Amino acid sequence: MRAIVLVGGEGTRLQPLTLCTLKQFVPILNRSLLEHLLLHLRSHGVLDITLAMTRHSQQVEEVFGDGASLGMRIEYVYEEIPLGSGGAIACAAAEWTEPFLVCNGDLLTSLDVTAFIAAHQAKEAVLSISLHEVEDPSPFGVVVLGEGDRIVRFVEKPPRETAPSRMINAGTWLFDPALLDEMDGTQFNRVEDVLFPSIANAGRPMYGFMHRGFWLDVGNPDVYLYANLALLQGEYPERLPAGWPANGLATAEARVDAGAQLDAPVLLGAGTVVEADATVRGPVVIGSGCVIGAGATVTRSVLWDDVTVEADASVSDSILANGVHIGAGARVEGAVFGQGASVGAGSVVPPGTRVAPDTQWIPE
Ligand code: GTP
Repeated sequence: MRAIVLVGGEGTRLQPLTLCTLKQFVPILNRSLLEHLLLHLRSHGVLDITLAMTRHSQQVEEVFGDGASLGMRIEYVYEEIPLGSGGAIACAAAEWTEPFLVCNGDLLTSLDVTAFIAAHQAKEAVLSISLHEVEDPSPFGVVVLGEGDRIVRFVEKPPRETAPSRMINAGTWLFDPALLDEMDGTQFNRVEDVLFPSIANAGRPMYGFMHRGFWLDVGNPDVYLYANLALLQGEYPERLPAGWPANGLATAEARVDAGAQLDAPVLLGAGTVVEADATVRGPVVIGSGCVIGAGATVTRSVLWDDVTVEADASVSDSILANGVHIGAGARVEGAVFGQGASVGAGSVVPPGTRVAPDTQWIPE
């Protein structure tokens, strides 16, 4: 089974993290979001991947190349302008004659892809959509299921009060190649807006496949932080780093002072230093080359690479991108710092603060 992964989006909602880093490269437990997805597909024997891209995401090709380093075969199809999901699929699969899988490229999901494919084949569906139940379905496509899990209605982003169910399009689809004749690869269009509702309205064989396991659409900083912390707490154990220690303290590549205190789960990257009397209160993910200064405290946060938290500073419920600098004694809570951003000694950064890359945060 070949798969298309859609990776051409702008990642606007994940700003300021995505102002210097592609959405597909944001780190989840110190490994890129896209690599997690590819490894998940590989675990289900899906090895032939076409990444549907825009020029904006060209760096993905430089990193993954032909896929050999992952034991996969990866090719790239570029859109000169963003074509949306419909245009991207129509371009990437133009010559294909077998059923194929399509994944949104910003998903973290334990979906049983093998069972999904088997159900699609058994039902002779033209289209199958993986589903997930959520509390608030309004930001998603919402489906109504009929007999035998047939999708009888598909409504894109309904107001919460009128949503016909809480079952949503979970962003992984199986297409029969006959659908390509109905798709347009020349201009922007989204399958969620036109194709999916029209197939449901026409009563054609479109089926839902309920996924009750781990599922996140890593679209904004809150979900991004939650994704890291939930994985670290073992909610999707397959995605923990290899050799995850039983005590939940993955510190083998770091240098931790004997006087520092670490509360599991904590993941520290290569060359990171935790100095005397510092406290790291998990769940916390820290990348490589970071320094947590003497007496500093880091709680429920994700720090990328080369971040410095100076002595006696505290960081909680926050995301600090590459190269961020937190001055001595500063307090940062519920904030997101873009790459290279900083805050001076002793400052108190209020919850909800977003700091643009290479900017020093200054109180108003
Ligand atoms: P926002 O700008 O925050 O909405 O994020 P996004 O641009 O990633 O959009 P969205 O979350 O709706 O995209 C879902 C998936 O489709 C992501 O993996 C995107 O990279 C991808 N995607 C979105 N638009 C396009 C497009 O025009 N072309 C391609 N090839 N992929 C797209």
